[in-house]
Amino acid sequence: MNKLSNWFLRMAALYLILGVSLGLFMAASHDHSMFPVHAHLNLLGWVSMSLFGLFYRAFPQAAQTGLAKAHFWIYVPAHFLQMVFLTLLFRGNTQIEPVLGVVSSLVGLAVLCFAITVWKSTRLAD
Ligand code: HEM
Ligand code: HEM
Repeated sequence: MNKLSNWFLRMAALYLILGVSLGLFMAASHDHSMFPVHAHLNLLGWVSMSLFGLFYRAFPQAAQTGLAKAHFWIYVPAHFLQMVFLTLLFRGNTQIEPVLGVVSSLVGLAVLCFAITVWKSTRLAD
């Protein structure tokens, strides 16, 4: 049982659907203006979350740590809000930028938790 890995993989698959749907919409409409949302739905959503899920699969002990739980519970909501706020920004709501900055920094913090987890657990496996 590795809930953290499973949930990262499930979230990744949902972001793949969202990212590809937006890509198809952009291609069909010839309106590429939302491409940064598309790129980060796919890269921070599908690609990064898949890699997180596969990492916690390969290092199940790492998934049991508080740092890994902090990684998940900061990353998933912050990334979701980041995509919502980025969409609003590209729709012309420039006043959203400070709060987009805050949630993006939280994504950065979650990534830091992940990086420390990777270093700690790979060192133990040396
Ligand atoms: C059916 C699937 C997809 C379609 C139809 C699609 C479509 C598009 C379109 C129309 C653009 C805008 C191109 C431009 O204006 O320069 C774009 C950009 C981009 N797509 Fe996709 N995409 C798809 C899947 C993906 C996936 C799976 C990924 C990543 C894993 C991805 C990553 C990117 C990135 C990073 C950019 C920005 C590239 C740049 O900086 O110019 N796309 N895509
Ligand atoms: C907190 C995390 C991140 C922030 C705040 C961020 C921010 C940005 C910004 C400001 C741009 C320039 C957008 C533009 O000028 O249109 C950009 C572009 C890009 N980023 Fe990120 N990024 C993040 C994470 C990532 C990650 C993890 C990846 C890859 C795994 C990535 C891949 C790209 C790519 C391919 C582009 C060029 C396509 C585009 O402009 O949308 N980014 N990012």
